[in-house]
Amino acid sequence: MTMEDSTKVKSDLVQIARLALSEKTDDVRLFVARLVRQYRGSEPALAEQLDNYLRTIAPSGASSFMRKESPPAQRSKAGEATAVPVDDESRLSLLKIFNEGPDYPKPLLDASVEQPLAQLLRERKQIKKLAGLGLHPTKSSVFVGAPGVGKTITARWIAAQLGVPLLVLDLTAVMSSLLGKSGANIRAALDYAKRIPCVLFLDEIDAIAKRRSDESDIGELKRLVTVILQEVDEWPPTGLLLAATNHPELIDPALWRRFDLVVDFKSPDATTIEAAINRFLGPDTLKFEKWVETLSYAFQKQSFSDIERDINRLRRTLALGGGTPQKLVEDVVTHKVTELGRAEQIEFALLLDSQTSLSQRSIHEITGVSRDTIRKHRKADSAAASRSRTRTTA
Ligand SMILES: Nc1ncnc2c1ncn2[C@@H]1O[C@H](COP(=O)(O)OP(=O)(O)OP(=O)(O)O)[C@@H](O)[C@H]1O
Ligand SMILES: [Mg+2]
Repeated sequence: MTMEDSTKVKSDLVQIARLALSEKTDDVRLFVARLVRQYRGSEPALAEQLDNYLRTIAPSGASSFMRKESPPAQRSKAGEATAVPVDDESRLSLLKIFNEGPDYPKPLLDASVEQPLAQLLRERKQIKKLAGLGLHPTKSSVFVGAPGVGKTITARWIAAQLGVPLLVLDLTAVMSSLLGKSGANIRAALDYAKRIPCVLFLDEIDAIAKRRSDESDIGELKRLVTVILQEVDEWPPTGLLLAATNHPELIDPALWRRFDLVVDFKSPDATTIEAAINRFLGPDTLKFEKWVETLSYAFQKQSFSDIERDINRLRRTLALGGGTPQKLVEDVVTHKVTELGRAEQIEFALLLDSQTSLSQRSIHEITGVSRDTIRKHRKADSAAASRSRTRTTA
């Protein structure tokens, strides 16, 4: 096993333990379904065993998949209740429903994401004006990006901005539990979504594509893809259809070109990481003020969700008297620094040396960069700086 593999296995283990211990059975199932997909290629026996558990061990409690989120918008216009479609066999509700208020926080978005989304919202709010000119608003969009960059929360935020519920059809859940009947199930779910004002969100659409390699259910898959293609085609312009994927390369080109708008979510850059740290620190921002730059260096190449998790842990430890801000930051940094390359570690050591009051010994302990190396580079740096000063003054 490579270092990378073993780091991933460890983090998966931690994740699943966390979900299991907090009794989030639904999330455990989703997570296991994800592992099944991940390991199908490299560890088929393991994938199959997990998959078997998913199929044979039923969740306890009939309403297990009905989330504890706010209740669905259950009244249709006529006032009668519209039931959320549920698959009898697996008892999984196919749709998770989120009702967020207008105060749902706006995700931190890169300008390249923010702009098209602002336009999308503007179009939605002026459907009549567009219609007067014979134009339809953007009716479908697919969000592409690595895990934890904010695709899902952005979908929730958009629905909140539009004042309608977000209906989430999680295709991983559908695929892993409803084989044999998924076509009909998806259609039922989508019909429901068409009848009420909402944003429909197809999460993890690559789940379908991935299943393709599985010879056994080719027929089923073809039906599924057809259903989805038709639905995207026929989606009424009054509704908004969003989708998300981590694996654009797996998406059927026929499905791909049916989306009006493709939005690429970027991993956060240095400025955004700093903003994220400040946001996640919340009321503790002041206590860590001196350390934001150090933290943002340590968090480079991490996703928003990783940053949030680490910051939350930091805040909890601080709240329980587990150390001073400096000590806690050092702990985080020491851990992160192992993931950096040698050149970055040196750069980081120099940053700590110039920006903080840490001794070179502590910097060495944190970064693994020797005091000699720090001194050498510092000398080289100041020599370079004075050279460039002489040059500019000359
Ligand atoms: N752009 C962002 N701004 C602020 N917080 C973010 C952002 N992106 C992610 N987060 C934090 O990380 C968490 C996970 O984000 P989210 O579920 O939206 O990621 P995702 O892109 O949908 O990932 P996945 O591909 O794994 O589904 C969020 O609950 C939020 O706290
Ligand atoms: Mg998501």
